[in-house]
Amino acid sequence: MPYIRPMYNSEGSCISYFVCCPGSGVAAVIDPSEDVGQYLSAAKGEGCVITHVIDTHVHSDHVSGARKLVEKLRGEPLLVMTKGTDVSFDYTQVDEGDSIEVGDASLVGMRTPGHTQESMSFLYRDKKRATEPWGVFTGDSLFVGDIGRLDLVGHGTLRQAYESLVRLRSLPDYVELYPAHYAGSDCASNRNLSFKTSSTIGFEARHNRMLMWHSFEEFEEVMAREPVSPPATWREIKLRNQGRLSSVGAIRSQ
Ligand SMILES: [Fe+2]
Repeated sequence: MPYIRPMYNSEGSCISYFVCCPGSGVAAVIDPSEDVGQYLSAAKGEGCVITHVIDTHVHSDHVSGARKLVEKLRGEPLLVMTKGTDVSFDYTQVDEGDSIEVGDASLVGMRTPGHTQESMSFLYRDKKRATEPWGVFTGDSLFVGDIGRLDLVGHGTLRQAYESLVRLRSLPDYVELYPAHYAGSDCASNRNLSFKTSSTIGFEARHNRMLMWHSFEEFEEVMAREPVSPPATWREIKLRNQGRLSSVGAIRSQ
């Protein structure tokens, strides 16, 4: 049976996911942190090959471990990013409705622009259990108690964010929510990001105040009164993750 193993990185309050199908001997990693040894150990422990390394978007708060993990595995896994993502290196494109097969699990792309233009959520399906989705990996589009901030370079429009959140909120109540951050992250829109690391769409639709609006105009009002300071080094972190800067700190004086 496939399973989802969340992996936590307290620096940046990040959550990455090891999605594994031991029966098929394959695994995928979603939003890996720089400490890639944990994914290599997990794969070794299960006797699995990592076939896909996925970044839901270009991160601005922490250095992604995606390229490092692919390099460690001698380029064997596919480095997967949303079609049209603005980076300087090659990657395998995923778009709305595309399915990534991980043995008996599948990850189906669902575009959710807002936090960034390229933000992609992935519906998780366990084909042994059901044809309908069981969970959704939302990256920084939707968190437990919060949503991703919309004020960094490359973000989508307010209208796009609204439409993305309407789509996510419209998923069945029982769908489990697997976000890329928990409390303490700079990627949140307000101070309500929870220390709880997972939730369901139904609970968030009812109790996440960043989702408790009834119109675009109400959403605009919520976003207007929730500004928070951006992370200090987000520009250089983003450039690093785009492959345009070798190390964070190089342009800190700008
Ligand atoms: Fe982000």
